[in-house]
Amino acid sequence: MENLMSKIVSLAKRRGFVFPSSEIYGGFGSCYDFGPLGVEMKNNIKKAWWNEMTRRQNNIVGLDAAILMSPRVWQASGHLTSGFADELVECQKCRKRFRLDEIERGETSIKCPECGGNLTKPRKFNLMMKTFIGSVEDEAAMTYLRAETCQGIYINFENVLNSMRLKIPFGIAQIGKAFRNEITPGNFIYRTREFEQMEMQWFCQPKDADKFFDYWKKARMKWYLNLGIKKENLRAKEIPAEERAHYARRQIDIEYRFPFGWQEIEGVHNRGDYDLSNHSKHSGKDLKYEGHTPYIVETSAGADRALLTFLVDAYHEVKGGRTKTTEAAKEVETLLKLHRALAPVKVAVLPLVKNKPELVKKAKEIYESLKPHFTVQYDETGSIGRRYRRMDEVGTLFCLTVDFDSSKKDDVTLRYRDTMKQERVKIDKLVETVSKNLRDQ
Ligand code: GAP
Repeated sequence: MENLMSKIVSLAKRRGFVFPSSEIYGGFGSCYDFGPLGVEMKNNIKKAWWNEMTRRQNNIVGLDAAILMSPRVWQASGHLTSGFADELVECQKCRKRFRLDEIERGETSIKCPECGGNLTKPRKFNLMMKTFIGSVEDEAAMTYLRAETCQGIYINFENVLNSMRLKIPFGIAQIGKAFRNEITPGNFIYRTREFEQMEMQWFCQPKDADKFFDYWKKARMKWYLNLGIKKENLRAKEIPAEERAHYARRQIDIEYRFPFGWQEIEGVHNRGDYDLSNHSKHSGKDLKYEGHTPYIVETSAGADRALLTFLVDAYHEVKGGRTKTTEAAKEVETLLKLHRALAPVKVAVLPLVKNKPELVKKAKEIYESLKPHFTVQYDETGSIGRRYRRMDEVGTLFCLTVDFDSSKKDDVTLRYRDTMKQERVKIDKLVETVSKNLRDQ
């Protein structure tokens, strides 16, 4: 199964989804850059989340708070204390560092999992990333890059409530970068030090928090399933009190079955009045609503982790025979069965051959006419079979082939990715046909 991860990492790099950061300088510890197809796909994920969590709801509004906030926010939130610190041990021989909870699992004696050397005593390591504001790098100028986006929501609770004339229950949703100085980042983009979160904070009366917790848990599981994640690869895990985040009264982790095991992709938390009470106390501002402090139920997903989840789940290998060309029939074909809303390229326009000017001209005209409507790629290099395969490999939904009949009959061949069904469609009906398929498929 590890093999599957290396295939995905390699596909992601080769086809422009994800590149290691600062590669020409030898890389930069667990940071990644999203390439041309990666940024399209991540934008599609964020759009699908935003549409579901704001536009399709009656009472959830959006926010885009600053990454940098007063350091007092992080004092109030509890992130500067041991609640947001991992226990770290260091190997005295090879100097590698590990999270204690990771190496204890499955090991009886605590030795370095890499070289067997002795480990130092555990010490707490806080995950907040420090930075300095302005020209003087002293304590007074120090603040932190946000470790979770939701704090920007809590400190704007009153602003949003008043400006939008909302009534409890209501939600505030936000997508943005977060930073954690993870001790052991890894598994490609699964755990990194810079990542994007998609969080929704639901403010409600304390007596309703359990009900809403169950509601949002179900709604969030459904979101992944509706976007094509296989049911058998998704589960919700109730987290016992001793393992919960420092702010959580109740917590379920939505987990996905990765090649490296079941791992969290989203958390649903009942944070009680923890955040608003602490911000009230530290800021001196009363954040009560109708006499009491609202409870918060949050849904907290990672956009990068979601992208990895969708890539892994969509990855298929088909042995021989999808494409009919003799050279291709012998090889294993890769097919990315991404959901139509997430596929980075919706349509490819392919002239059957590239050395016939009339075909190329027609194909380019079609490409130009579709560009305002869909994410389209034009490709004329290599055999048509090869080009279909290149498109299958990145999950392109529809291939339009312009052939010798196209000029005479004003139509093209439309090929569907998953079924490989082909049909002739009139050029002036392409936008309509593709749009309909994007809705229905
Ligand atoms: N506001 C609650 C919160 O931040 P969390 O469980 O710490 O909860 C929520 O994080 C989600 O953010 C995770 O389920 C994951 O998708 C994403 N996430 C957290 N740390 C991450 C990291 N180091 N790299 C990538 N994604 C991460």
